[in-house]
Amino acid sequence: MPHRRTKAIMSALASLSNRQVRLARRPTGLPTRDDWSFTTEAVAEPGDGEVVVKTLALSLDPAMRGWMNDAKSYIAPVALGDVMRAGGIGRVVASRSDRLKEGDLVTGALGVQEYARFGEADARKAGLAKIDPRLGSITQWLNVLGMPGMTGYFGLMDIGQPKPGDTVVVSGAAGAVGQTVGQLARIKGCRVVGIAGGRDKCDWVVGELGFDACIDYKAGDVKAALKEHCPKGIDVYFDNVGGEILDAALARLARGARIVICGAISQYNNMQAMQGPKNYMSLLVNRARMEGMVVFDYVDRFPAAIAELAGYLKDRRMKSKEDVVEGIENFPEALTKLFTGGNFGKLVLQVSAG
Ligand SMILES: NC(=O)c1ccc[n+]([C@@H]2O[C@H](COP(=O)([O-])OP(=O)(O)OC[C@H]3O[C@@H](n4cnc5c(N)ncnc54)[C@H](OP(=O)(O)O)[C@@H]3O)[C@@H](O)[C@H]2O)c1
Repeated sequence: MPHRRTKAIMSALASLSNRQVRLARRPTGLPTRDDWSFTTEAVAEPGDGEVVVKTLALSLDPAMRGWMNDAKSYIAPVALGDVMRAGGIGRVVASRSDRLKEGDLVTGALGVQEYARFGEADARKAGLAKIDPRLGSITQWLNVLGMPGMTGYFGLMDIGQPKPGDTVVVSGAAGAVGQTVGQLARIKGCRVVGIAGGRDKCDWVVGELGFDACIDYKAGDVKAALKEHCPKGIDVYFDNVGGEILDAALARLARGARIVICGAISQYNNMQAMQGPKNYMSLLVNRARMEGMVVFDYVDRFPAAIAELAGYLKDRRMKSKEDVVEGIENFPEALTKLFTGGNFGKLVLQVSAG
């Protein structure tokens, strides 16, 4: 039986409504507002073992574009009519579970909606876990301490295997994954060259984050700039964008280079054949290795990586930048910023102030 306080919370819940964003159709190219539908439902009371979580902020990720396609990937596509999948941070507002109590802050796949209800099996599937607000702000928990930070950490450390003195190049340098990769590589004693779109982003990664150089790919010839900034070749290339930039990096490898295939955002809205690397023979010549990674394979090791990265944030060896858009109703336009370069830092959708 729910106790008195829980009963009071449940009657308060009954007066709330849950705004949701659902996938209405599969997009062609860049998603538009017409690809989404907007629904409002009552907030259902938690049953035995269940919790209701209020969404505070959602992570907007390039991967969402792939989840909208009806194609085989590392995770099933979002079904038409379903609430869009999204990771986020929320607060438990009603609990009939022994694992979580009212007031707990949690991370997990909350979906693009204001409230989410989880039974025990759903909570496991959604990766619902408590977060420690002393380690970082809510937006940092979606950035350096969250999925992008874990991607940068394990992609660089496990696949890139940086050694002090190595030249590390990272594309998407001012984005969520890129900012962690570049700063971590600096901490590990590497020379770091970023690639980003626009002077402002390049100035920020060099001036604020301490990268050694940054190439504005929109301003000139990336291949020539890599030659200038990487005179001994590239030891680790962390690829967030694919396409022509990957080819330019392949043309500049050092012997024994490691290429981390993290993402290929330049290709996600490409409805023609995906552009693959042309310069792959450079792998042979340079005895180099190119390897893909998926962050979810490292979940068991997240706590140790979070502790390490939180330490760098605390002692200011690492900074973080988040680009916060307010309001669930703005989800469609906010998402497209990722594909136009409109975001500066980790893109976050703030759904509720508290
Ligand atoms: N493998 C995994 O487990 C995993 C996990 C998370 C993320 N990822 C991947 O990591 C990459 C970065 O994700 P993120 O969350 O950190 O995003 P982000 O870098 O914060 O945002 C995306 C950025 O991509 C750049 N971009 C967009 N279109 C581009 C194009 N045509 N050419 C070059 N750059 C382009 C834009 O920056 P500019 O203004 O600099 O162009 C944009 O701001 C994505 O490819 C994502 O899919 C992979």
